Amino acid sequence: MGTNVRRKTIVANWKMHTSTAEAAQLANGIVKGLSPEERVSVILCPPFPYLALVGELLRNTQIQLGAQNMYPANDGAFTGEVSPTMLLDLGCKYVILGHSERRHVLGESDEFINNKVRFALAAGLDVILCVGETLDQRNSKQTEVVIDHQLNSGLANVAEAELLRISVAYEPVWAIGNAEHHATPQQAAEAHAMLRTRFAQIFGKSAAGALTIQYGGSVVPADAAAVLSQPGVDGALIGGASLKAEDFLSILGAAVGCFRNDFESGSYS
Ligand code: 13P
Repeated sequence: MGTNVRRKTIVANWKMHTSTAEAAQLANGIVKGLSPEERVSVILCPPFPYLALVGELLRNTQIQLGAQNMYPANDGAFTGEVSPTMLLDLGCKYVILGHSERRHVLGESDEFINNKVRFALAAGLDVILCVGETLDQRNSKQTEVVIDHQLNSGLANVAEAELLRISVAYEPVWAIGNAEHHATPQQAAEAHAMLRTRFAQIFGKSAAGALTIQYGGSVVPADAAAVLSQPGVDGALIGGASLKAEDFLSILGAAVGCFRNDFESGSYS
């Protein structure tokens, strides 16, 4: 089995951007520009207030809806929070958890992230778990230890039967939102290989072979093909470049091209 056997998954993380009108325009632009036959999974994650609107625009398309966060309870006195039940009710299939902005800006702990992961899976949402080191951690050669710890703690006590509903996004914190300082394709590939090896040690080779690992950290149209064609890079989690339909569609085009190459070279099965 080749290393690029998994189909590509491209996720748009709109973060705290867009208005009602902009969200509708962006979602419509992506729906219109996407060729329906292409075998790449596409997920849009708008801010909570626009989930219903975007969900409606994605109805009967191949594009799935995801949320950027959730609270690990179905309902209750949790002012300002949003439950997985609500997200499912709005048509979400996915939720992003452990994003570095939630770890570092909102102060989420490994334990809290693990609670969310387990709760989301039990509720019926598929999880995109983000991991990634800061610049200081990379410079002090802590990358492996940090992402290993985030993977291990994020997936603690997750049942084997649920592993197929989890993907991992490697997002080096120093590359996020940083036009000048992207990870090189080789750095991305190295980190992905490290994560897959560690995943295999925890859950076994077959689960690791099936795991989708997306790269996130300022993927832009100009470097999408270079990153997405790396062995073990199964897609991308995109912030800034997902806010322009044209840029996002161009990245999707690169993913389709990489998938075709994998398919034609026989590494897709
Ligand atoms: P940028 O693509 O804006 O660097 O953001 C990456 C990211 O954090 C996606 O979740």
